[in-house]
Amino acid sequence: MCMRNNLIAVVALSFVAAASFGQPRLRPDNIDEVVKAMTDEEKVSLLVGFKDKQFEFFEGTAAGVRGIPRLGIPATISCDGPAGLHFYPFRDNSDKTFYCTAFPVGTLTASSWDLSMMESMAAAMGDEVHEYGVDMFLGPGMNIHRNPLCGRNFEYYSEDPVLSGKMAAAYVRGIQSNGVTATIKHFAANNQETNRKDNDARISPRALREIYLKNFEIAIKEGHPGALMASYNKINGEYTQQNYDLLTTILRGEWGFDGLVLTDHGLKEGTVRAAKAGCDLMQPGDSVEVERLWNAVKEGTLTRKELDRNVRNVLRYIVSTPRYQGYKFSDAPDLISHSDLARKVAGESIVMLKNDGGTLPLKGNKKVAVYGIGSEDFVAVGIGSGHVVAKHVASMRESLTAAGFNLDQDLAGYYKAVVDLDHTTKKLADAMDWLSYVSWGYEKKVAEPDVPLNLLPKQAVDNDVAIIVISRNAGEGYDRTIEGDFDLSALERKLIDRVSEEFHSKGKKVVVVLNIGGVIETVSWKNQVDAILLPWQPGQEGAYAVADVLTGKVNPSGKLTMTFPVSALDHPSSANFPNCPQNGESEEGLKKNFDYTEYTEGIWVGYRHFNTRGVEVSYPFGYGLSYTTFEYSRPVVKASAGGFTASVTVTNTGSVAGKEVVEVYVSAPSGGLEKPSRELKAFGKTDLLAPGESQTLTFTVPAYELASFNEAASRWETASGAYTVHFGASVEDIRATGTFSIRKPRYWKVHDVL
Ligand code: BGC
Repeated sequence: MCMRNNLIAVVALSFVAAASFGQPRLRPDNIDEVVKAMTDEEKVSLLVGFKDKQFEFFEGTAAGVRGIPRLGIPATISCDGPAGLHFYPFRDNSDKTFYCTAFPVGTLTASSWDLSMMESMAAAMGDEVHEYGVDMFLGPGMNIHRNPLCGRNFEYYSEDPVLSGKMAAAYVRGIQSNGVTATIKHFAANNQETNRKDNDARISPRALREIYLKNFEIAIKEGHPGALMASYNKINGEYTQQNYDLLTTILRGEWGFDGLVLTDHGLKEGTVRAAKAGCDLMQPGDSVEVERLWNAVKEGTLTRKELDRNVRNVLRYIVSTPRYQGYKFSDAPDLISHSDLARKVAGESIVMLKNDGGTLPLKGNKKVAVYGIGSEDFVAVGIGSGHVVAKHVASMRESLTAAGFNLDQDLAGYYKAVVDLDHTTKKLADAMDWLSYVSWGYEKKVAEPDVPLNLLPKQAVDNDVAIIVISRNAGEGYDRTIEGDFDLSALERKLIDRVSEEFHSKGKKVVVVLNIGGVIETVSWKNQVDAILLPWQPGQEGAYAVADVLTGKVNPSGKLTMTFPVSALDHPSSANFPNCPQNGESEEGLKKNFDYTEYTEGIWVGYRHFNTRGVEVSYPFGYGLSYTTFEYSRPVVKASAGGFTASVTVTNTGSVAGKEVVEVYVSAPSGGLEKPSRELKAFGKTDLLAPGESQTLTFTVPAYELASFNEAASRWETASGAYTVHFGASVEDIRATGTFSIRKPRYWKVHDVL
């Protein structure tokens, strides 16, 4: 019998033999006593999670932690997110279905810049986690958008660490309000999918501290997540899962994290090193890992102190779980109200990139010609563990019809037939593949067909307006390419060219809807169309949310959480990113961005680069239009407790009600470290302001959050001098400013590690 089976037998036997002999039973206040009563075998079994069929509670469960019945320790389970709960809708032993709500993806929800809405949405998501009997939720995903080609950017929030960290914190608070554990992931610098399990991210201490760790630091301090998942990759030569400085010195020592640390999923060499580094739980475990830990305990390479420390962290998690607390889950979350919420959140987050001549909202335009396969095969969320199986994903055909538009039936019928045929063929070809498509979204979406354009002249006469849906999927395990993904394909270009030409010749407008998971090229075609909406992958009700914005039922108030560059290669990180044409075919060239990736751009990520160096972009960070206009007035900025407080009044100067996101950027005095021209330090969103109505937003930024990292001295520091506070509608659209001064520089010394 293998070691693991032995251990399982030991655990079961000890339950039978000892249950009645006064063994302690786990309580929140007797963890030390329980640790003392545990055998080494039991301790090891607790640190190695499971994914065996025999233990698997639900199809699609990501992993679990073994129970030890004699000590009152139940087995607990975890499931994926982050756009909703990920598991299979069907189970062998049940006639019921277990669908979950596919909420909008992280990139879209962050575009709301609305922390309280993020928290409410995550609370609904957490309710599904709770009511479906799951203890730990593997989300939020919060890696920085270092480059637009990262395949998993859709799960993440932003190129900016403050926005990313605060959004993640709100999400964590929402999930955990249900008494289940949220897991922030993937810690850290998991910014590419190519060779994601072994890639070595080579990053300067300053870029790490200010960009790639900062968002996690904020999420921990403001959200208090119960768990954190260490990523697969290495940082500067060491796997993150095995890095003591990362997982203990910084995470627990400097930031005060007191939750559970687990591995990203799968077997990795170096289990003992991981356990010593402060990685409590190997997920999901395997007999190999059990054996490694067991041998290390016997040999003393894993000390009892280290073993017990990790065990205590797991037990602290267990006592917090619904399963430990005996919660009787219903298997019946309120999917109806959650789908309404998913629609509302998507609508509040959609970004309007262009609206020439008041093209939108489509008042009075009743007859609509809708082009693009995405109109029928609408992408709700991306591919992989972040996929969510909703009972139904609304199409644009459905939502526009429900909104009262008359759709061009030839076109609608054409796209429906293409999608139906594709799905039927896939189902017939391989039922298992179909299941995996449904459960993981793994198979790529239906390819854009070469729609016959012979009827285009007639369509332009018969319809009032054209809508072109450009859609993309992406996901776990691969990065996007420039050709045909970042850039539009030839078919998509043709569609935009021909439809625009024909409709414009009849004096009619063309609207583009971007149903995409990552940034795409927009400069070469945006002038050909009249309006552009960016709903990203907006969840199961996203097509309805798009219709809400198209009709004006919702006034768009989302803003970009990343830059839309002119070319993908304008990002300095593209000099060192997979699928960018810079590697060459030499032996070293093939290792580059596969075995290792040099983050030579340092802190110059996203707008920090574009804005500081004056590089032209297509749409800047923080940008987004509304159906109304806003005026910023009465900026007040005061030094306070080493940092500053600020306020600004926003007035709706247009003719419809709307909300405005205010972004607070700070420019530091010269003389200290070299800094970006502006850095986001705070943000806020107004309530729905009626025309003429005003609201004053206030912000407080403490001194520490103004600091930059001096790597020579291993310390955070704020320079003395005059700081400028910019109240912006985007990083490039500053509407009001104020200043404050810091008299004496301040320093926060940290460990000289990483
Ligand atoms: C992903 C994680 C996910 C885990 C469990 C990994 O491959 O990187 O994000 O939580 O699988 O499914």
